[in-house]
Amino acid sequence: MQKLTIGLFGFGFVGQGVYQILNALEDPAISIKKIGVKVPEKRRPAPSELFSFSPEVILEDPDINLIVEATDDPTAALEITHQALKKGIPVVSANKKMIAENLQQIIEWQKEYDVPVLYEGAVCGSIPILRTLETHFLQEPIHSIRGIFNGSTNYILTQIFEEGLDFDTALKEAQEKGFAETDPTLDIGGFDPRYKLTILLAHVFGIVTAPQAISLRGIENLKKEDFAIASEEGKKIKLVAWAAITGDRVVAQVGPQIIASEDPLFNVDQEYNSVVLEGAYSGLQQLTGKGAGSFPTGAAVVADIFSIREGFRYQYRSGSATHELLSTNLLNSRKESLGQNGNIPELDDIEALIEASQETTFK
Ligand code: HSE
Repeated sequence: MQKLTIGLFGFGFVGQGVYQILNALEDPAISIKKIGVKVPEKRRPAPSELFSFSPEVILEDPDINLIVEATDDPTAALEITHQALKKGIPVVSANKKMIAENLQQIIEWQKEYDVPVLYEGAVCGSIPILRTLETHFLQEPIHSIRGIFNGSTNYILTQIFEEGLDFDTALKEAQEKGFAETDPTLDIGGFDPRYKLTILLAHVFGIVTAPQAISLRGIENLKKEDFAIASEEGKKIKLVAWAAITGDRVVAQVGPQIIASEDPLFNVDQEYNSVVLEGAYSGLQQLTGKGAGSFPTGAAVVADIFSIREGFRYQYRSGSATHELLSTNLLNSRKESLGQNGNIPELDDIEALIEASQETTFK
């Protein structure tokens, strides 16, 4: 069996989770040789000789044959990924911004250098959604995907609904628990779930597009009245990402929705994420699990490390998109943004919204 000697970049919540899980597993064929970090002065819960402050030292170490990238810096992460692939070293990453914003490039590098990049930890934390799509659902057409893709905002909304906390206190808790991004605007503004939806579009529909092509609204402008109205009606508000085939195109959106009790997302609370798929033949499938946090995300990264060892790589639905993404602002009004029907709008509604908006088609 191939021995994996890892160069780990980043030692925040995710990096530490990976480190601790690998230590606990004690697999003799997997070891971390170096950990790349930026700030030398910080105290860290690992032996100091493991740490390096120069990416080159790690990338040029002849023993290292797998790079695990768990930084919060998409620019550095992309450079590290490129350097590693050029040397024929596979990469496991949890950096959704880096992956989503450079997916075309990352797919091309994988082909050019014939080396895999895996990133299960970048999409919905612990949920094995990419692996599931890339194995079980690789052949089956999928009509729609919908879910809660951000643990922090789900945690915040749950605390507001269940505990009556105010927004700022709930956000602070989400940060303390290691759910939020270093810049929490990425969570609150919905950018983080939009990165995840961008990545999923490639694995569900074969569509590789820029995150900006997806309509977005975050939870920052929700008002007390919105919460009060939803509560009175026995409903909740969730930040929902979805994409669905309508006619010959795919429409995608991230925004808050009012969710009724019969909705499969109603009971997905705290930092949990959930993905609801609609397969052409299998029908509805729902995967739910912790979407953020050191160990849940670390577990997904560790699963990728083992997948690298077994030679697994992504197919991206063989790169053949059968539908184009229709980029359109479906969120023009407050009513639309709150998705009053709490679900993927009916086809007629989508068409009416599309007609009323400026259209741009992205491949
Ligand atoms: N900030 C992200 C979230 C972390 O809250 O979901 C996991 O990607």
